[in-house]
Amino acid sequence: MYCYRKVTEDLFWVGSNDRRLAMFEGVYSVPGGVSYNSYLLIDEKTVLFDTVDKAVKGIFFENIAEVLGDRKLDYLVVHHMEPDHSEAIQELVMRYPDIQIICNQKIASMIKQYFDFDIDSRAILMKEGDSFSTGKHNLVFVMAPMVHWPEVMVSYDTTDKILFSADGFGTFGALNGALFADEVNFERDYLDEARRYYTNIVGKYGDQVQTLLKKASALEIEMICPLHGFVWRKNISDFIGKYMHWSSYAPEEYGVMIAYASVYGHTENTAEILACKLRERGVKTVMFDVSVTPASDIIAAAFKWSHLVFASTTYNAGIFVNMEALIYDLVAHNIQNRTIALIENGSWAPTSGRLMREEFEKCKNMTILDNTVKILSSLKREQLAELDALTDALTESIPGSAKAQMATKEKKEIIQEKAEVDPTAMFKLSYGLFVLSAKDGDKDNGCITNTVMQVTDVKKRIAIAVNKANYTHDMIMKTGAFNVSVLTTEAPFKLFKQFGFQSGRDVDKFADGGVQARTANGISYVPEYSNAVISGKVVETQEYDTHTLFIAEVTEAAVLSNVPSVTYQYYFDHIKPQPQPTTEKSGYVCKICGYIYEGEELPADFICPLCKHGAEDFEKL
Ligand code: FEO
Repeated sequence: MYCYRKVTEDLFWVGSNDRRLAMFEGVYSVPGGVSYNSYLLIDEKTVLFDTVDKAVKGIFFENIAEVLGDRKLDYLVVHHMEPDHSEAIQELVMRYPDIQIICNQKIASMIKQYFDFDIDSRAILMKEGDSFSTGKHNLVFVMAPMVHWPEVMVSYDTTDKILFSADGFGTFGALNGALFADEVNFERDYLDEARRYYTNIVGKYGDQVQTLLKKASALEIEMICPLHGFVWRKNISDFIGKYMHWSSYAPEEYGVMIAYASVYGHTENTAEILACKLRERGVKTVMFDVSVTPASDIIAAAFKWSHLVFASTTYNAGIFVNMEALIYDLVAHNIQNRTIALIENGSWAPTSGRLMREEFEKCKNMTILDNTVKILSSLKREQLAELDALTDALTESIPGSAKAQMATKEKKEIIQEKAEVDPTAMFKLSYGLFVLSAKDGDKDNGCITNTVMQVTDVKKRIAIAVNKANYTHDMIMKTGAFNVSVLTTEAPFKLFKQFGFQSGRDVDKFADGGVQARTANGISYVPEYSNAVISGKVVETQEYDTHTLFIAEVTEAAVLSNVPSVTYQYYFDHIKPQPQPTTEKSGYVCKICGYIYEGEELPADFICPLCKHGAEDFEKL
């Protein structure tokens, strides 16, 4: 019986799950199973995006038949030819003989390698930036070589702003009824598997992933449909941020991952003592026995942690087999930018330390500590000092530990010596983000602000500071009334653009077709992405250069939801897209909204024409 889910009004997930697979690609354990995603678009033309692995072909074809009904299948888009997504192509062609295949030249060549049907007569070849209309929808194709194979491309539906991302943004694990990442606790239950998927499948190709991310940063993406794992429709920039992080090979957390290979327990014992000493100095540690934990888990952990310790016994005059395989694998996955420490053991001719070092010396930007600890069979009491020295060397190179504390001490001394105002210190203040709205006659307007605070409780009064250049400022000055919509973490970037990056003098910011609502004072607010609305009546004003401080009595207040309030920091970390890289322009970019000032020198009194932030919020391109 068919089992599909609706993605949008006219897009359907027609893939399936495999929970019986022991080893994905023959090498990665998938204890939670894996999903093979395929999507079917019902437009003026019908379009299938990729097929599935042979393990789930049966249900896949039932899903297609059910969603199509009496429609025929016009097109298949092939983004990636690895058989977990292409295995069903031959049978699809047999079932739907008129189908045309949208792909690129490399994919067409691979289709010939894998299958025997005539591709040339049914191929529609796409190149970088080519587009294809299916009726209401328009698809644009972007080449993504080596994410994960050389033929890979992705496509972008400009109508619904959906990115079909091939292997990118995938996750190990069966979907278990959920389709969207926001239907599960992704961070708690799936982030580790997403990291394990990324690092093992495409971890080697960080540069190519960065290239794709740069292309994607030019797109307004409202949904990502990958070939494995969940569809993304919320907190997309959060997950893209993870990909930016992983593909740059920057560690996610400061701490020490210890991987050890121990035949009779002596190397393990040494690793345990080191872990205890690190914990006693406040350093986070994780440990893996390479004979027990699958390499793919350890590779994912190596991409996560900043400091890596490898402790191995010597075996056949080399590195212990499982450790040797792990290190070869890590080097092959392009691991870089880490601090490495080594422990070797050997009862008569220890060589594992030297050999492990030689492997890591092949990697980019590795700091290999000199304090290699050598054990002859077992650790002796007099060698504890060597472990202390290794612990010190690791600890001192971890920000937040001893070295960072020294740096903090130096910072205090700097502050005492020079009484200067560092404008970036203001960034350390915590703020919420709000839509401040007002009304003048029939005209509604609003702007984004972070300067709302409660002043008194009895009576309830609040303060807002508003830039005098804002149209909302003039409205409040004139009418003495406003609303504050307290934005939540679900507020999308487009809302911030709508209210923050354009002037109400030029556009009607409330005319976007969203949910309309007014409080008793007649002023609009933003119910869809707010957890509270507060109405204020101005009782006092104070002017300060660029801003007016309004003190207002609260005339109405209501809780709208229990979704957490968004903070300024959360906006930067999770909502605002990464700044779009550029190589053509020189100048300064606004860190708030992305406005680019072209020129060699940014005037000190420059104000961003989009978001009205000052020069201190710009950084050099
Ligand atoms: Fe899921 Fe590269 O295939």
